[in-house]
Amino acid sequence: MNQTATAAQVAPPIEFPAHVTNPKLRDWVASVAQLTKPARIYWCDGSQEEYDRLNQEMVDSGMLIKLNDVKRPGCFLARSDPDDVARMEDRTFVCSANKEDAGPNNNWVAPSEMRATLTKLFDGCMRGRTMYVIPYSMGPLGSHIAHIGVEITDSPYVVVSMRIMTRIGRKVLDVLGPTGYFVPCLHSVGAPLAPGEKDVRWPSNKEQKYIVHFPEDKSIWSFGSGYGGNALLGKKCFALRIASIMAREQGWLAEHMLILGIQPPIGKKHYIAAAFPSACGKTNLAMLIPPKALKGWKVTTIGEDIAWIKPGKDGRLYAINPEAGAFGVAPGTSEETNPNCLAALRENTIFTNVAMTPDGDVWWEGLTKQPPKDLTDWQGNRWTPDSGKPAAHPNARFTVAAEQIPSLDPDWENPGGVPISAFLFGGRRTTTVPLVSEAYDWTHGVYMAATMASETTAAIVGKVGVVRRDPFAMLPFCGYHFGDYFQHWLKLGRALGKPPKVFSVNWFRRDENGRFMWPGFGENMRVLKWIVERCDGKAAAQDTPIGRMPRYEDLDWDGLNVTREDYEKLTNVDPKAWREEVKDHSRLFEQLKSRLPNELADKRNELEQAIK
Ligand code: GTP
Ligand code: SPV
Ligand code: MN
Repeated sequence: MNQTATAAQVAPPIEFPAHVTNPKLRDWVASVAQLTKPARIYWCDGSQEEYDRLNQEMVDSGMLIKLNDVKRPGCFLARSDPDDVARMEDRTFVCSANKEDAGPNNNWVAPSEMRATLTKLFDGCMRGRTMYVIPYSMGPLGSHIAHIGVEITDSPYVVVSMRIMTRIGRKVLDVLGPTGYFVPCLHSVGAPLAPGEKDVRWPSNKEQKYIVHFPEDKSIWSFGSGYGGNALLGKKCFALRIASIMAREQGWLAEHMLILGIQPPIGKKHYIAAAFPSACGKTNLAMLIPPKALKGWKVTTIGEDIAWIKPGKDGRLYAINPEAGAFGVAPGTSEETNPNCLAALRENTIFTNVAMTPDGDVWWEGLTKQPPKDLTDWQGNRWTPDSGKPAAHPNARFTVAAEQIPSLDPDWENPGGVPISAFLFGGRRTTTVPLVSEAYDWTHGVYMAATMASETTAAIVGKVGVVRRDPFAMLPFCGYHFGDYFQHWLKLGRALGKPPKVFSVNWFRRDENGRFMWPGFGENMRVLKWIVERCDGKAAAQDTPIGRMPRYEDLDWDGLNVTREDYEKLTNVDPKAWREEVKDHSRLFEQLKSRLPNELADKRNELEQAIK
């Protein structure tokens, strides 16, 4: 093993393993070590032995709890600091040279100023800790669509999570070689240890948190948080924010989308990519099991959070899942809502901020109808059903390898990707937005996606349940000006011989009593079936001012009791509500005015006329 240990207060001399041949990587690692002054440097090889050893070290230090080895073999529980439980949008920055390039959709600070701030924060920030170097690949190793990142972190929890979520280790360095390109991703929990100081369970920095992207040199610096998208830098930071910038430069798309396959009983298989904001149902839809009444329909999973999509020579779009695992929302996941997911979580899973049963199993709100009588909550306190607060944090998550998902598609690692027949866009909308509508054409589809909105969820720190515009479900993830992003989508679609159809969906409409009007989950298959049949030219639809919608008789109701009257309510397009809706589209467009494509302003005007 290539490890160098020295006294905690002195920057260690850098010894490079012989297989680290990339001079840029050597220089970067050396400069980071000099700045952050770790006690040790460790190069991750990605082996099972390494994974097991790091988990054991964390169990010994109290950062992880080993769960019941009979009920949850190979599973661990982490409890984060209560101030470090989700992504922090107000601490996330895109520091482009030109402020306008970051757009009103990103926080911006001048790169020189941000570099100065970060350099101060990172100076000595790894004292007393191990600095781990994680070479990783987003996408199948060596595939022409994959890209390499290297994350430096002082968190062993990040290392084991990255091993599940991406492809890491020695094999990535072999592909990188001496001249390969990588995105440098620097992460620290921002909690240096003085000599002899005992570590806390979940180190983080209470005062300072920064998640920063530099578009010009495509680098990432994250300080102060150890949680999820703040710390696993391959995910939102690289595969969405930086990749969205690369995608625009190179003519492809990096999107907050699940990818699923649908095999009808007869006829050809279709693939669909769907964008929903955080904690709005991507994981559930990606692993959907069709209702029994829809005989012969089968759904398979390619990805559940991120899609990289490229035009193919045949004029279609091809998508890959750049990740290798799922970091999914636990609460609400049950045998009823997502049996495939529960099956995936039976073993080899890292749970974060869920509750624990007395016999060392996991529990979260919604897992069972009746909560257990006695639990340890996500913060480690005793919990009973009358405690009056959730046992699991609402953004509690599981980290699990894609290979454990029973519905995984045989083509999930196909380096060429899978052809996309349709894009779906949907948010949490209590009112206004109908169950499903189809765009009239590509430009209209881009308009639908650009103007979508959703209620915020526990996936972000801040207010939950506030409706906000979230174009393409990319508001927190687009690394550049939304006006330019819309333009990129318009242009890319125009160049396609056979662009995917575009649909808006809403599983979250509620009645006067606040109850969901649509059963959702597996029953969403009825909408997917109509969509696939639209793609095959087999299903009918009705024109409305906002798009093409299925009539009651166009959907398959076999085995589900939704009356015509229920359906009318669920799909009603209320002109008054839509006039308000369009006003809000205008407010969004006003913010993006300087770079808003004219086609979208035109579409807005058309819609305004249509709903008058
Ligand atoms: P991120 O991983 O945060 O990007 O989110 P995601 O889109 O993968 O979220 P996920 O699928 O984990 O969403 C979980 C939440 O959505 C839970 O609260 C579920 O109960 C709810 N949910 C998912 N599908 C449906 C549905 O069809 N109907 C309703 N009413 N709720 C749903
Ligand atoms: C999201 O918030 O959209 C997630 C979780 O997928 S995290 O990786 O923490 O951003
Ligand atoms: Mn997500």
